[in-house]
Amino acid sequence: MQNQKIVILGTGGTIAGLAKDASSNLDYTAAQVRVSDLVGAAPGLRSNSTMETEQVAQIDSKDMSFPVWTALAKRVQHHLARCDVEGVVITHGTDTVEETAYFLQAVLGPAKPVVLTCAMRPASALEPDGPQNLSDAILVAGHAGAQGVVVVCAGLVHSAVDVQKIHTQQLNAFGSGDAGVLGLVERNSLKMSRKWPLAQQIRAQAATKNIAILNQTEAWPKVDIVMNYAGASGAVVDALFVLGVQGIVVAGTGNGTVHQAMEAALLQAQAGGVQVVRATRCTQGRVLPRADDRFPHSDGLSPVKARISLMLRLMGVGVGI
Ligand code: SIN
Repeated sequence: MQNQKIVILGTGGTIAGLAKDASSNLDYTAAQVRVSDLVGAAPGLRSNSTMETEQVAQIDSKDMSFPVWTALAKRVQHHLARCDVEGVVITHGTDTVEETAYFLQAVLGPAKPVVLTCAMRPASALEPDGPQNLSDAILVAGHAGAQGVVVVCAGLVHSAVDVQKIHTQQLNAFGSGDAGVLGLVERNSLKMSRKWPLAQQIRAQAATKNIAILNQTEAWPKVDIVMNYAGASGAVVDALFVLGVQGIVVAGTGNGTVHQAMEAALLQAQAGGVQVVRATRCTQGRVLPRADDRFPHSDGLSPVKARISLMLRLMGVGVGI
């Protein structure tokens, strides 16, 4: 009876959303349907006895919070440690799923699969996309050799590091940029085109230590994101410095470039002890280092993921990426 079960954790999102009018895919309230009911509506690939559900949160993912992340990481770690569990699926809103996926990969570096899934249409839609996405996610979580944190949406499997929401409306709302998807689900079978995310870069002990740090941390480090644009000034950076920010990620233009007025403010903040990281507002490509760099680059991470990485670093959490 080893590795028989998939545990499905619910956190809310459009996949659990309801509209008053089934023909409306826009005017609905996210996070209304319990995860146990979502599983009941997904095209069945497994018997119910091989699945377990647990409602960890019930939120619109734009409201994702540090306490929910900590609670989720703890429940994922708990279930992955069970020898009768082969993987965990998480139902989540599309808006911040890439952040939660990156956070879980960084903190847990799991050797078993953790598959986040979501939907662009509410559960009440005439043709909802959630049931198929959930069914695909369960298939991926049960795939032999699967490991690490991935996001499954519209038949595509994305790694936690590369995935980004790139469309506001389309059902296929996610991209993996230059890296490309890890694989695709076709007719109930998974075809991999890249390797699974590396597991065990942090060991189970390190994950336990990471969770302990998250548990003990009452206030997470204050790290914010500022964007560069034509006519940018140093005003937002100066205000953040006065407010006691510990880190700033700049969503720079192009190769992470920053307006000279903003750069002056960032240098002043850096001299005052603020950690500054340079990312790019471009959705494709990575920031490459240059000889005259004043700020470290984000190592290919998008601004939102570079922010999570910096917060975790400031907390002393070992990053399993
Ligand atoms: C959310 O992110 O919770 C709402 C939007 C969505 O899931 O598409």
